[in-house]
Amino acid sequence: MSYPYQIKNIEEYEQAYKQSVMDPEGFWANIADHFLWRRKWDKVLEWNFSDPDIKWFQGGKLNITENCLDRHLGTLGNRPAIIWEPNDPEERHRILTYRELYTKVCQFANVLKNNGVKKGDRICIYMGMIPELAIAVLACARIGAIHSVVFGGFSAQSISDRIKDASCSLVITCDGAFRGNKDIPLKSVIDDALMTCPTVKKVIVATRTRTPVSMLKGRDVWWEDEIKAVETMGNPPCPAEEMDAEDMLFILYTSGSTGKPKGVVHTCGGYMVYANYTFVNTFQYQPGEVYFCTADVGWITGHSYIIYGPLSAGATTLMFEGVPTYPDAGRLWEIVDKFRVNILYTAPTAIRSLMGYGLGPVNHKDLSSLRKLGSVGEPINEEAWHWFKDNIGKGRCPIVDTWWQTETGGIMITPIAGITKEKPGYATLPMPGVQPILVDEAGKEIQGNGVNGNLCIKHPWPGMLRTTYGDHERFRNTYFSTYENLYFTGDGCLRDEEGYYRITGRVDDVLNVSGHRIGTAEVENAINMHAGVVESAVVGYPHDIKGQGIYAYVTLEHLSHDAELTKKDIAQTVARIIGPIAKPDKIQFVDGLPKTRSGKIMRRILRKIAENDLDNLGDTSTLLDPSVVEDIKKGRL
Ligand code: PRX
Repeated sequence: MSYPYQIKNIEEYEQAYKQSVMDPEGFWANIADHFLWRRKWDKVLEWNFSDPDIKWFQGGKLNITENCLDRHLGTLGNRPAIIWEPNDPEERHRILTYRELYTKVCQFANVLKNNGVKKGDRICIYMGMIPELAIAVLACARIGAIHSVVFGGFSAQSISDRIKDASCSLVITCDGAFRGNKDIPLKSVIDDALMTCPTVKKVIVATRTRTPVSMLKGRDVWWEDEIKAVETMGNPPCPAEEMDAEDMLFILYTSGSTGKPKGVVHTCGGYMVYANYTFVNTFQYQPGEVYFCTADVGWITGHSYIIYGPLSAGATTLMFEGVPTYPDAGRLWEIVDKFRVNILYTAPTAIRSLMGYGLGPVNHKDLSSLRKLGSVGEPINEEAWHWFKDNIGKGRCPIVDTWWQTETGGIMITPIAGITKEKPGYATLPMPGVQPILVDEAGKEIQGNGVNGNLCIKHPWPGMLRTTYGDHERFRNTYFSTYENLYFTGDGCLRDEEGYYRITGRVDDVLNVSGHRIGTAEVENAINMHAGVVESAVVGYPHDIKGQGIYAYVTLEHLSHDAELTKKDIAQTVARIIGPIAKPDKIQFVDGLPKTRSGKIMRRILRKIAENDLDNLGDTSTLLDPSVVEDIKKGRL
């Protein structure tokens, strides 16, 4: 497969960038031309950021799986599409060629049809990182069902909220999932979640861990039995459903500054073009290269850069079931060595945690196949950047520090591997087609270089979200109401003297813990569920490995006899309501929270105390009771 829209040198980058600003529609139409459309679009773009209403490639008809599978069969049918490495290094890996993946996707798509799934139905997928997860995702897309993948670390309560929000009719899960030395009982979590989800009529369960599960008659069926039924029918073909470019492809829930996660909606045409274009360009993917992204498919990185981006490009994508530290901290390097990985895309938190083990686990691993490295999900500190560059890339691999969001669908600001300049700690320059601007609090554009501001995007790009599921007003409010006619990212950003962008972190009440996005309000709601808690306030603080840690200030109804036990109980409550990823790292019991006279919690002060920046608390005289601040300072953990 060739990629005529792949940027090959700095001149082409500059040229493409200019063209993308001067004639965005012509720019994107030229790229979209290289995909398989059943019918070409009538109009490239229609948009306004005030309703807001964004439509790309209107009138175009396609199916993304024909672009990810069918179109490769003639030329790449025998090439590995997915290499799967299991959690346990002693277990055999699996390789699925494009032809095998195609066959399995069609088979499972027929299973979905046999179970009553129709175009437009919402399907919740809650699985571990096994090839069947990718197959399930693609099978939904094949028949026009809308997938909503929920990360395997979320609790029953979180899943049930997401299922209800999207009125899902079917759930695809596994008996369990292996992650490091843990065995997560996915099916039993789903059973709990479904107690409150009357819309779910069917559950398809794939076998992985052989953990005993209970199967509800009439509702629950085994993946393997259903496949057998399709085989008995003689494996009929499964023609792809013809989708409109603006039909929904998937929903993915993400945290915002309110308590309720929102369902980010991506559509078929624009998302496909954008995921592919950014994959091919950022990583400078060359046919035959083995590409390994360590993310989980439960997050947007897995959607765009394990499944849709690489597969639409005919790439070989490596999917890893386990964690970087199991059975030891050399696991990622062992995988690179074993499969001669050429491109490695991972998260700063993984790098920082592996740095802590020293070079022992890296030594004696052959990393000479690596050509390009990538980082995603949170700011990468310079120390981690250099460690990655020197010890993993051996000084010869470019690092792409890619800034983007669930909402953007794909990479927005990043170096182009080996072509544009890299700068430790900087996402550097926008992809051609992306127009970032910095604004001040009042929404005025900050011109020039050597400036700081809030990061906005001023023109639509094909991969952007189109709405938040079931609540278009929330979409408008969250992204388009802060600044007129701009998409607001929620991130603060520096543009240095050379015009390079450095993301400085969220400016709203969203935390980034080990690359996981968590709303402070969500954690507070969960803490407040604990019977003994009166109220709480949650802020982030710098954490060596996680990037940000969660610091919770909690007032209790009665002073606890055993403070440590109560803290454990509260953490457990959070794990039960949201999932273990949202457990507070520190819980400080306080007599009261600093509030203004109107009752608003002064988070700025709490943040400073958590960060141990005690001399810069600012004016506390407007507080209802300034003395609480002194007490909180004294009790700081
Ligand atoms: O704050 C930014 C941070 O992660 C947020 C988006 O989180 P999520 O939607 O979960 O997507 C993560 C994977 C794309 C952003 O608003 N972020 C993401 N990438 C970077 C980053 N911060 C700094 N540098 C990055 N490269």
